[in-house]
Amino acid sequence: MTTNDPLLKWREEFPILAKKTYLINNSLGAMPRAARAGLNHFADMWENDGVVAWHYPDGSGWLDDCEKTADLIGSVINAKPGTMMLHLNVASLTAQVLSSIDFSGPRNRIVYDDMQFTSPHYVCQAWTRYGAQLEIVKSDDGIGVDVQKIVDAIDERTAIVPISHVYFRSAYLQDVKPIIEKAHKVGAKVLLDIYQSIGTVPIDVQDLNVDFAVGGSVKWVCGGPNVCYLYIRPDLMKDYNPALTGWISHARPFRFEMEFEPHEGAWRAATGTPPVVALYSARPGYEIIKQVGVENIRAKSKRMTAHLFEKAREAGFKVNSPTNPERRGGTVCINFEGASKAENKLIERGFIIDYRPGGGIRVSPHFYNTLDEIDAIVEEMKKIRAGS
Ligand SMILES: Cc1ncc(COP(=O)(O)O)c(C=O)c1O
Repeated sequence: MTTNDPLLKWREEFPILAKKTYLINNSLGAMPRAARAGLNHFADMWENDGVVAWHYPDGSGWLDDCEKTADLIGSVINAKPGTMMLHLNVASLTAQVLSSIDFSGPRNRIVYDDMQFTSPHYVCQAWTRYGAQLEIVKSDDGIGVDVQKIVDAIDERTAIVPISHVYFRSAYLQDVKPIIEKAHKVGAKVLLDIYQSIGTVPIDVQDLNVDFAVGGSVKWVCGGPNVCYLYIRPDLMKDYNPALTGWISHARPFRFEMEFEPHEGAWRAATGTPPVVALYSARPGYEIIKQVGVENIRAKSKRMTAHLFEKAREAGFKVNSPTNPERRGGTVCINFEGASKAENKLIERGFIIDYRPGGGIRVSPHFYNTLDEIDAIVEEMKKIRAGS
């Protein structure tokens, strides 16, 4: 894979790869060289054109780029143009989706599991003040959650099921289709958190028929912080009326009317000023992911995580990720006595990873990594475990 792997030609587009063994792509993907040019382009517009940059006479400008960037990331998950909106983070988007639901009646349950990322979990907990009742399905092994247990927990009292596609702690790839089908059968909605899957696991929001999807850019799509996005299924658009709104969500934002009328399209999810600066650093990563192709990334990722899994097991480490490659995302979590302290040692030695309590050291190779890098980090962990 290392010598005749066509994906390795992309390595030169990511400067950090020449300096470090960069294996933490499920946390922060490597910065593409072109991200700096994107930020310079933003600075040029701001410096030279000032306020005109929002909207040039030919229709281009920051607002137009916001729409185009939303559609670009949407194309990675087969979302139709006009169904995506950019935002700041998943926490605020989760709050926005919940704010579109009335929890005062008998349909007031939020069903999810205890492997969810903390941002949506904290927002759901906070929503109990508005009448939401939480039904949290427990994982039996701290790695995955039996899909049938989630399906069974969904009933006519369920309003929404906010669930991760790939779990951040273990990289378990949840089988979300039965969850979506059951939710729809009883009249509930699903908010799919694709942050840990987009860019490494193929996603087709139309095929999944999911109601909402939320994700961001820092991880596998190599886009950097503060550009998250919401997908709204087209037939839900006209009824999506969140309480969390703002001037840009208005049908005619620049008229500043005191009566609120939502924009007919995805702009209704925008709230206030969109993440203009960050979208210019995010776009190059999205474009590269599109060019490489998520199917190709997934095929290589499966080979790399299988290799890593085997090497880690051979070395006697505990592996806290699914054994079944079909249920595994792009990360392998490796634990051993002293793993939390090994995090810093590895980073000092040029191996960029992180440690998560309950999971271990997360090693997440991307399309630009090599098998040699994987072998090298396993060797380094063995040395640290032995006391060096
Ligand atoms: C599954 C998942 N969702 C969301 C986030 C990020 O949430 P936020 O955008 O609120 O920082 C992460 C990790 O950073 C994650 O792993």
